[in-house]
Amino acid sequence: MKTVLVLNGPNLNLLGTREPQVYGSQTLADVQALCAATAAELGWALDFRQSNHEGDLVDWIHEAGRAQAAGTLVGVVFNAGAYTHTSIALHDAIKGAGVTVIELHISNVHAREAFRHHSYLAPAARAVMAGFGVSGYGLALRGLAQITA
Ligand code: DQA
Repeated sequence: MKTVLVLNGPNLNLLGTREPQVYGSQTLADVQALCAATAAELGWALDFRQSNHEGDLVDWIHEAGRAQAAGTLVGVVFNAGAYTHTSIALHDAIKGAGVTVIELHISNVHAREAFRHHSYLAPAARAVMAGFGVSGYGLALRGLAQITA
C-alpha cells in the first residue's frame, strides 16, 4: 500500500478558531479525519503532518522525495500557509526532491490581499487548488489519484 503525505504549514494548527469567516470552523483534526477517509477510499495510507517551522517542511519534502523515488509514496498535498508567499527554500526543496506536490489553499488566495496572489510553490507544483474550503483536501487527494494513475 502506498502512502500519501498531507503537509500543513504555519498557523494551520489554529484551524477552527482562526478567522473562521475565512477558513471555516473545522479543526485540523477534522481535516485529518477527512483526509484519512479519502485516502482509505483511494487505497492509500495517510501521513498527516503540521509544522510552524519552515525547516521542518523542507526536511519533510526531502523525505517525501526519497519515499517517492523508492516507490512507497504517491505524492504530497501541501498547504504551506503563508510560506507559500515567501519561501524560495520550499520552492527549491520541491524541485530538488523531485516530488509530486499539489499546492492547496483552503481560501481563494486570489480573491484576498495582493500579497497572497504570488506563490513561490506554484512553479514547482504539479497542480494548484484554492478556494474549496477544507473539502479541498479531499478533492486534492482525488486529483492526485487521477494524475498519478
Ligand atoms: C492559506 C492561505 C495563505 O495565504 C495563508 O497564509 C494561510 C492559509 C489557505 O489555506 O487558504 O495560512 O494557505
